Amino acid sequence: MNNSLIIYFSKTGNTEKVALAIKDGLEKGGMDVTIKRVDEVMEENLFNYDLVCFGSPVLHSLPPPAMFEFIKRNEKRYRSDWEVHPSSPKIINKNALVFCTYSGPHCGINEALPVGKYLRQFFEHLGFDVKGEWYEVGEFHGWEEGSTKGRLGDIRGRPNPEDLTLVQLRAMQLARSL
Ligand SMILES: Cc1cc2nc3c(=O)[nH]c(=O)nc-3n(C[C@H](O)[C@H](O)[C@H](O)COP(=O)(O)O)c2cc1C
Repeated sequence: MNNSLIIYFSKTGNTEKVALAIKDGLEKGGMDVTIKRVDEVMEENLFNYDLVCFGSPVLHSLPPPAMFEFIKRNEKRYRSDWEVHPSSPKIINKNALVFCTYSGPHCGINEALPVGKYLRQFFEHLGFDVKGEWYEVGEFHGWEEGSTKGRLGDIRGRPNPEDLTLVQLRAMQLARSL
């Protein structure tokens, strides 16, 4: 199994850094990787890939409009193609990874969990086996207090090189496990 697609949205660059670290890790693990921003893949057939990675920041407690748009549009399309079935049985060799970056200034990871769960359930509807739900801390660019006095403390510079090395390692392990 070696064919993967990474789809992401990034407003201030954090999610893009994580997406690129995942790309490096998957490639080290032996996969072919295509990486695209969400607006470039509205019509892509997700079933053409063994692994789809899907990443989003948390903006005002929610996924950004482009991610909503992608999910709404594709849910509708796959429903009309009869790809969505009651109980969502898993399809062999269709895997997903969802990842989410957030700053958690007010209530920590609880600001990100609804976004991660929302991304996850989209793939579960399609019968993908969701292998992971990764939450990465990212600096709140443009709001200093949110990056220094929030629930997660001083998060300036995150995701930092150590965070990204770990992401890369986990992605490599994921690729090797498939
Ligand atoms: C306009 C805006 C709203 C945000 N709202 C939240 C939020 O509600 N909760 C949270 O945890 N982080 C919030 N953040 C922080 C981002 O989720 C975090 O910085 C994320 O890593 C940004 O990813 P990006 O650089 O890929 O856009 C917000 C950031 C911006 C710019």
